[in-house]
This record gives sequence, C-alpha cells and structure tokens, in this order.
Amino acid sequence: MNNIEPVLTAPQVSSIAIKHDASFEQLINISEKVNWRLDDVITLNSVFDFSKNMLPQAFFPLDGFSFLDSSEKLIYNHILSYSYLNIFELSEEFIIGMALELAQDEFHSDREAGRALSRFCDEELKHQEMFTRARCLLQSNYQTPLQVLDNYKDISDFILSHSKPATLLLTIHLELITQAHYLDGVKDNQGIDPLFCYILKQHWIEECQHIKIDILEFNRLVAEMEQAQVESIFEEYSQMIIAFVHTLSAQAALNVTDLQAETNQNLSAENKIMLVRFTHSAYCNGLLKYGFKHPHFMRILSDIYSDSTIKLNALNREVDYQIDKLN
Ligand SMILES: [Fe+2]
Ligand SMILES: [Fe+2]
Repeated sequence: MNNIEPVLTAPQVSSIAIKHDASFEQLINISEKVNWRLDDVITLNSVFDFSKNMLPQAFFPLDGFSFLDSSEKLIYNHILSYSYLNIFELSEEFIIGMALELAQDEFHSDREAGRALSRFCDEELKHQEMFTRARCLLQSNYQTPLQVLDNYKDISDFILSHSKPATLLLTIHLELITQAHYLDGVKDNQGIDPLFCYILKQHWIEECQHIKIDILEFNRLVAEMEQAQVESIFEEYSQMIIAFVHTLSAQAALNVTDLQAETNQNLSAENKIMLVRFTHSAYCNGLLKYGFKHPHFMRILSDIYSDSTIKLNALNREVDYQIDKLN
C-alpha cells in the first residue's frame, strides 16, 4: 500500500459569496463586462514553457517517488495537466446540457433567467474549446498520444438522467472546486507555466457568475420540493460522486500507461500499482473530497439538511472505501 498520499489542505476560499443577492440581470451585466474572446486567450500558435510544471506541484506531489527522476516527474505533471483539463471539459458537457434544460424551463416566464442561462451555455462551450486548444498544445510536445476519457456523451447522459436539483448540486460542487483550485493553488504561482495559469484565470473569471446562477436555480427548485424529495437530492448526488470515483480510476490507469510509453520506463508491478493508486487518490481528493470540505458547499447543504455533516462524512468514507477497493 502506498503511504505517499497527495497532500491536500482544506479550501481557503472566502471570496465567493454563496449567500449572494445578485439577480440574473446583475449577473448578465457582469458576464458581459468580463467576457473574453477565445483567440485573445489561446490559439494553436500559442506556446507553453515545457520546462515548467503546468499544474502546481501541490496538486500532484510526486516528491516521494524516488523511482522517477526530475524529468520524468515533469512529464508526468504535463500528462496529468492534460487529463485535468479533459476532466473539466468532460464535466462541462453535462453542465451545458443541464443549463440548456433550465433555460428551456425558464425563458417563457423569466427572460433574464433565460438570458443568463444561455450566456452560461455559450461560455461553457467556449471553455471546452479553450481546454481543447490547450490540450493540443500540450500534446504537441509529446510522441505518445495522451489518453483521456472521451465518452463525454455517455457520462453526460448518465448525469442528466438524475433529477435537476441533484445535477445542480453536483454542478455547484464542481464549479466551487474549479474556483478553489485557481484561488488556492494557481493564482500568483510563479512555479507554473504562465499561459496555463492565464487559461485557468480566464476560466475562473467567468465561472464566478456560474456558481451564482447555479445557486439561484438550485434555490428555486428546492423551494418547490417536499422534504422527502429534498432528501433524495443527496442520495442521487452521492451515486454520481461514486460513479466519478470509478471513472477517475480508469483515467489514472491511462495516465500511468502514457508515462511509461513516453519515458520508455518499464515500471515494476509494485511501482505501477503505487503510482496508479497515488494518481487516483489525487484526483478523488482534489476533485471530490475537496468539495466536501468547501465551506460554501457545506453551508449550502446545512441550509437544507440538519444532518449535513453526517451525510458528508459518510460519503467521504464511502469514497475512501471505493478507492481502496479499486486499487
Ligand atoms: Fe467552465
Ligand atoms: Fe461553469
């Protein structure tokens, strides 16, 4: 069993006002002001500095892996950064589907909500294209075709088969951790590639409005529900989280295979198992468990559940159990 677990501190974010009083109209105004053009952020002629990490080392601390030298650790950072972008691109697929459904529900009765949600969709589609461009640039430095989960539609269909409040709760989770990753680890980090940092900054700038739209929509839907229905939101959310644990396990295995191919490393079976487990744990800690500890996420749950802490602790234990089972 690997005792080198990814280090993860509790999110420090205090700048996202979850109990916000912004209206859809105000959120549209901010969105219009901060909106950026894709070609102004990244084109296929942009360049990364491949001598630097893309994601902060703290996201995937490889220091303890003495069987990898520094250049192999750098390559692995780039491989993981490539799949990190893909995981967000993949998540945005179902988020777009959800926002389209919400816009469809809202536009007859609330034109501002419809406008805010359609801008939300357009921005997410732009983010997906930005991440695709960044992945192309990363790939250009490597011979091995980097493997990522590409079943976007299947995953999106699976998530969207759940109720809208549960899908929104998962979206709130992911959009909070996206911002927390930027604020806690990427912003002002001199140790990472400046373009990669800038991409995540531009993403964060538009995501700040998304989380507020999510919460307006979540509150609207929950207000119409009976308590028994509200209980089912967390059950559905938990099922989707556990599905993510399994999906991320597949991604971790692909990452280690790509590292071996790119570096011509023939890892021992033991080292390979250790690295896959480390990678899977890092994904689950950074993308899933990080959200459970996010103060704003905890606050949203405590507003609707008197036993929210018990629920989150139980889900946290289930995630750990699944990680152990899969590795
Ligand atoms: Fe996004
Ligand atoms: Fe978003």
